[in-house]
Amino acid sequence: MLSSPDRDDARPSIWPPRDIVPVAPVSWSPSAQVWIVSRYAEAMQVLRSPDVVPLDVAGRIEELARRSGRDFSTVARLVRSVPPMMRAPHHQPVRDWLRRLHVALDTRMTEGLVRSAAVEAVEAFGRVGGDVIAGVVDRVPARVIGQVLGLSPATTELLQRRRFDVLKACTPSLGLADYAELEDAAVALRQRVFEDLLRVRGTAAAIPGLFPVPDDGALSIDIDQAADYLVFFALSATETLTSLIGSALFAAHAVAGTADDLLGRPGRQKRFIEEVLRYAPPLRRLTARRTLSPLVLGSSTLPSGAIALVEVEAAHRDPEAYDDPDAFRPDRPAQPTLAFGGGVHTCLGAKLARFEGRIVLEAVLERGPWRMVGPAPVWLDHPVTLRLDRLMLRPARAGRGGPVTQA
Ligand code: HEM
Repeated sequence: MLSSPDRDDARPSIWPPRDIVPVAPVSWSPSAQVWIVSRYAEAMQVLRSPDVVPLDVAGRIEELARRSGRDFSTVARLVRSVPPMMRAPHHQPVRDWLRRLHVALDTRMTEGLVRSAAVEAVEAFGRVGGDVIAGVVDRVPARVIGQVLGLSPATTELLQRRRFDVLKACTPSLGLADYAELEDAAVALRQRVFEDLLRVRGTAAAIPGLFPVPDDGALSIDIDQAADYLVFFALSATETLTSLIGSALFAAHAVAGTADDLLGRPGRQKRFIEEVLRYAPPLRRLTARRTLSPLVLGSSTLPSGAIALVEVEAAHRDPEAYDDPDAFRPDRPAQPTLAFGGGVHTCLGAKLARFEGRIVLEAVLERGPWRMVGPAPVWLDHPVTLRLDRLMLRPARAGRGGPVTQA
């Protein structure tokens, strides 16, 4: 709920969009036929147990396709290439390969590159303001990852537009109509990334280590597989980051004085970003897992073959894990969270995400001060991702004067 739209003090009284209803640490959902894990300790137990594996969603898609005589082969293939959906022993070499890719990304994704992408977007937006999500937040992460991976602007735009489809395809129980639509999207996406890889292979834009030779002890992959992995990779660097940056901008302007307090103070910004990740985790829940043997979680026992959903958003409000969990405290001392998952599938991009999130936040704040105005912020209604769809910012009367500078 907002106060009157055009007043300087227009601020949401509820943040984030949903109240987290306290539930049992582990509960059975008869309608969805899944176990919901809502507390931090139990969630970590699920993520660390060797007898809990990702649910075979791709197998289910293939089975549905076979029974219905439809072709969902590309969407199944893409889902199978999503690392958090992979099981041992196949997962480890792919993770090792992705880790090496990250080393290359680390050197390419310099502060200057991120900052100039952010500054360009903020400059265009800053003159009059408006919806900062459409104007800045949705643009910068896609531009940055597109640039470092050597993707064309058209591919980057398509990835940005189709990002929810891949997230959706990874959820356990969709119907035939959903998969038919997702198949078309998957074919278009894969094809574009594949063509880009062909185009940049052997040029300066090619990523070092992207195509390891089969006998160097690494995973032997061909360009076709690389395209599959890169779709996930590029998407994980856009959707989650836009969510983090949008929520950070909201939080910075929803509490009086916060934006000014953060400006030019990297130490505070880091703590603030950690609190945003805890309070409004970009992924509200992790990919579904299945138990291979009975699993005792507190006073509940999940039978073998049970599906478990780790609810990150709820676990981050666990009073046993966090002091005063429902309060958003910008300077809360950093504590471990589930924002980047845990166990063998822990996010490989956490360092990059924190870095990029902070640089974009700083670039927007430098161009301020801003005031939050109506129409009211809109939070996307999505079961997996927690993000703003609209956040209106206008330059406050007295600007900081002058454009932000490039690094
Ligand atoms: C705020 C930003 C980000 C958040 C909140 C985030 C969150 C996550 C989470 C929760 C997982 C585990 C999923 C599960 O277990 O079900 C994950 C996995 C992963 N993330 Fe991220 N991520 C972010 C940014 C990035 C970026 C920028 C990259 C790459 C440049 C990236 C690459 C990956 C990869 C490769 C995995 C799979 C790891 C594996 O399964 O071995 N992420 N991420």
